[in-house]
Formats: sequence, structure tokens, C-alpha cells
Amino acid sequence: MPMPQSEFIWFDGEFVPWGDAKVHVLAHAMHYGSSVFEGIRCYETPRGPAVFRLGKHVRRLFDGCRVYRMEIPYSQETIAQAIKDTVSKNGLRSCYIRPLVWRGYGQLGVEPRTCPVQVMVAAWDWGTYLGDDALEQGVDIGVSSWRRAAPDTFPSMVKGGGHYMNSQLIRMEAADNGYSEAIALDVYGYVSEGSGENIFLVRDNVLSTPQVGTSLLGGITRDSVITIARDLGYTVQERPIAREELYMAEELFFAGTAVEISPVRSVDHMVVGQGKRGPVTAALQKAFFERVRGEAPDPYGWLDYVR
Ligand SMILES: Cc1ncc(COP(=O)(O)O)c(C=O)c1O
Repeated sequence: MPMPQSEFIWFDGEFVPWGDAKVHVLAHAMHYGSSVFEGIRCYETPRGPAVFRLGKHVRRLFDGCRVYRMEIPYSQETIAQAIKDTVSKNGLRSCYIRPLVWRGYGQLGVEPRTCPVQVMVAAWDWGTYLGDDALEQGVDIGVSSWRRAAPDTFPSMVKGGGHYMNSQLIRMEAADNGYSEAIALDVYGYVSEGSGENIFLVRDNVLSTPQVGTSLLGGITRDSVITIARDLGYTVQERPIAREELYMAEELFFAGTAVEISPVRSVDHMVVGQGKRGPVTAALQKAFFERVRGEAPDPYGWLDYVR
């Protein structure tokens, strides 16, 4: 199915029609994955569309570019404004937003620094990521035979375009095995994350999630879940998680901008808990959606209103 389109894309500082936002086939990023991107959601609220944790996403984009020595020719404020402008220019209410920074057309040596750094922001209507039932019924997943990269290979805290070749292997293998998604282990054999989302497990009302700094992206939804869970009085541990803990968990759920909070109902064909969304996952989902939709107080200023 073709992706939903909107009218305009913010492209190097100006809006161009969706169909005209093109790059050259010899752009550096096309060949070597030299790009850094973000995935952000905008939700409809009683006060109009609001971008969720905009500042944190923009900061992660700039941090990632710094690691790859990509100097973005705009300030964080300009990019944040471009993101909000892209939502309003396209008349969108709730949507997914994709800012991308990449090395453009220049030369094709691996040393990239003579290529121009380009930026675009696109936004479009996008519903649930793992299917409409996923948020309620949960998804079936398996442990991938592909590992996440070792800490001194790809910088996992960076949302680098090329890193997603690994995610694609994980995701395709999952689909071929009949799963909606997979969990990858890190190079040491500990639980890492899904192809595009972080994982949490629940046992005895305690939440556990793998710690940042070894093999995973420091998800902004992950951070939001930890904050909300602590606000609700749960203990949250960030620690190494053994594969077998996935099979012992009472509840398991994914957290990410695309999947939001999605329960897992089975891992490797073993049923998790009651085989449906558990009470802790339900409580976190409820609190999360109330906050992102502006139906609950916003104590941390997570909503950035577009108008
Ligand atoms: C590999 C990976 N891990 C985790 C996440 C979740 O991060 P966030 O909650 O910031 O979307 C994503 C999505 O961005 C991802 O691609």
C-alpha cells in the first residue's frame, strides 16, 4: 500500500510540493546510509494539534548529527518551528512527523565531509503501527537471530539511517516467521530492543527495561513510560535483562513513537501472562494517552501546541 501523502515537505528551508522533494541518486546518504532522522507524533488535543516532546526529539536529532560530524545549517529552534509549520501547512491534526538530515550530492568517497548537509521535514496521517488491534489485543513476537550492534560499532543512541539495515533484517525475519515484530538481543546475549521500539517487562508490579548505553536507542517513549510509571507509584529498573526473563514476565510491552505502548501477548509462541493486555500495561497506556491527547495535566510540558 502506498503511504499517505500530504501536500508539502519542508526541504532545506522552504516548502515544496510533496512530489518535488527529490534527491540525486549519487547523494552520499543513498550509498552509505549517511543520515540521521527522527520520528515524532503530533496528537489532536482540545487545544488543537500538539507535538509530543518536540524539544527532546530535536535535541536527539542534533546530538546524533554531532556524533556523525554533520553540521546542521539551522538552529534547533528553526527545526522545531519547521516541524510545527509542516503540521499546520498541511492542515494535519494528528500525524507522524519525519525530520531527516542527510549527506547530499558531492562526492562518493567514504569520508563524507565535503558533501552538503541537507534537511527535510515531512508529516502525514499515520494510525497505529502494528495494526489496529495491537494496542488492545497485543502482538505475537519472537526473539530474533540477528543481534543488535556491539557498543563500539554503531552508536546506538543515534537514530542513524544506516543503523536501520539491522532493524530491517530483524523485522523481515519476524514477518517471515509469522510474528508482528521481534526482540533482538545485544552482543552479550542480553535483551536489547525491537526493530523500532524499546521493550519493558512487568513482574510483581515492578517494571524492568534494558539500560541505555549498550545497544539501544534511548527512546523518548521509553523515557515517558518510566516517568509516568514512577508517577503512578511503580518501581522501574533499568538493568541487563536475560532472555529467559521474557518467558517469565507477567506482562511485556513495547514502547516507541510508532507503536506507542503496545502489549505483547506471546514471545516465541509462549503466552505472556493471560495472553492479553495486563493491568499494569493498561494503566500506563491510559495515563500515556490521556497525557498525549491533552486530557490530563501536562506537568512536564510535553505538549508543544502547533497553534
Ligand atoms: C531502534 C529503535 N528503538 C527504540 C525506538 C523508540 O524511540 P522513541 O520512543 O523515541 O520513538 C525507536 C524509534 O524511534 C527505534 O527505531
